[in-house]
Amino acid sequence: MQRRDLPKTYRVKSYGCQMNVYDGERMGELLGEQGIAPATDGEDADMVVLNTCHIREKAAEKVYSDIGRLVKAGGERPPMIAVAGCVAQAEGEEIMARAPAVSMVVGPQAYHRLPEMIARAAGGERATDTDMPADAKFAALPKRRKSGPSAFLTVQEGCDKFCTYCVVPYTRGAEISRPFSDLLREAEKLVEAGAREITLLGQNVNAWTGEDRKGRPTGLDGLIRALADLPDLRRIRYTTSHPNDVTDGLIDAHGEVDKLMPYLHLPVQSGSDTVLKAMNRSHTAESYLHLLERFRAARPDIALSGDFIVGFPGESEADFEATLQLVDAVGYAQAYSFKYSPRPGTPASTMGGQVPPEVMDERLQRLQTAINRHQLAFNQASAGISCEVLVERHGRKPGQWIGKSPWLQSVFFEGDAKIGDMVRVTMAQGGPNSMAGTLLEPASI
Ligand code: SAH
Ligand code: SF4
Ligand code: F3S
Repeated sequence: MQRRDLPKTYRVKSYGCQMNVYDGERMGELLGEQGIAPATDGEDADMVVLNTCHIREKAAEKVYSDIGRLVKAGGERPPMIAVAGCVAQAEGEEIMARAPAVSMVVGPQAYHRLPEMIARAAGGERATDTDMPADAKFAALPKRRKSGPSAFLTVQEGCDKFCTYCVVPYTRGAEISRPFSDLLREAEKLVEAGAREITLLGQNVNAWTGEDRKGRPTGLDGLIRALADLPDLRRIRYTTSHPNDVTDGLIDAHGEVDKLMPYLHLPVQSGSDTVLKAMNRSHTAESYLHLLERFRAARPDIALSGDFIVGFPGESEADFEATLQLVDAVGYAQAYSFKYSPRPGTPASTMGGQVPPEVMDERLQRLQTAINRHQLAFNQASAGISCEVLVERHGRKPGQWIGKSPWLQSVFFEGDAKIGDMVRVTMAQGGPNSMAGTLLEPASI
């Protein structure tokens, strides 16, 4: 590669889960510390970080088409390209070989080393760093945080569950929990920077364990309770949870901590015990439903969300119908559904009984119809409820605002407010994806 100037502007493009969004924000802060500024809208950045996701096939393909587009748009002066995230971790060598325009490949546990890699790239070298040190990254990141009204905070990383379809244990490594005191400090920085809501993140966030201020072992509920003591922090959320890591303490926290929002994202993947077993999920449909009942007993208005995979190898029509039954039994406020995607190196990719694509398409459509029906019903049942809304952004119309209800619904309303306000709104009308509301006076609370 040729020598080039150090970049003055950057853009980070994050795909995939919220943890990648968090990583993308941290990379931005790190580059900011090096004097590299975020490119403004429409401006060509000197450096582009593609923060990739490997969870399904098309995600990786998008990366290559993005690289192609950047090279073409850049003409004589293409940007310095860094590939980060889970595709970088899984296919670093392949990316380097297949895409000569890429200057560096950096894994999710190594991106604190971006500054040195940029210096090397400016000297004409290409560099790959996909090391997985468990704790070095966070210590090396800037202490000051930037934040909007709603912030992400990664508390736990990695996964030891090895669901047979999933790449995450390979791309993110083993489960680790960040220390309690580091998290409190980072949360304080986020609140100082304007965060009113913090969403705690982890591939299995409820597997988080640590020691509280007094050195006593504690789980995620203890961390939530400690964060709830921050006076200017108004809301706490967490995602994504695993059914096997749910503790009594976490369920109790939903009944006792006002700042903990009534929303739970608890993926189940399938309603068939045969499929769940083949997926290595180690919970059954019944044990999952029982858990949800306990959350509902602690917090009756809790909104439930989940993830589903259709067309896992061996999934029969009867297995799929069990999934539809589970969806009806739960009545999700929201849920994500995906067609099974065979991932290289995972046990499921070589299992017999791969489901034909047209069957997957048809099942996905039926599942999404069912999920949408429940989502609309949930939103319609919310009409008439007055609640606090955290204002997050401007709406499309002048004077219109968009914020989130406690149940994570997007609420549109008009009136006197600003970003970061907590306002009282009466939700009037529920659509499939959002709520229309009216602002109650006095506006700010
Ligand atoms: N740790 C979380 C989420 C992991 S990835 C959990 O265990 O729930 C997010 C979602 O992507 C998963 O819940 C699953 O529904 C989906 N997913 C993961 N691997 C997949 C694959 N190979 N094909 C299709 N969907 C997949
Ligand atoms: Fe993947 Fe399963 Fe781990 Fe979730 S729990 S990240 S689906 S292996
Ligand atoms: Fe994707 Fe990696 Fe997240 S594979 S979903 S970016 S953990």
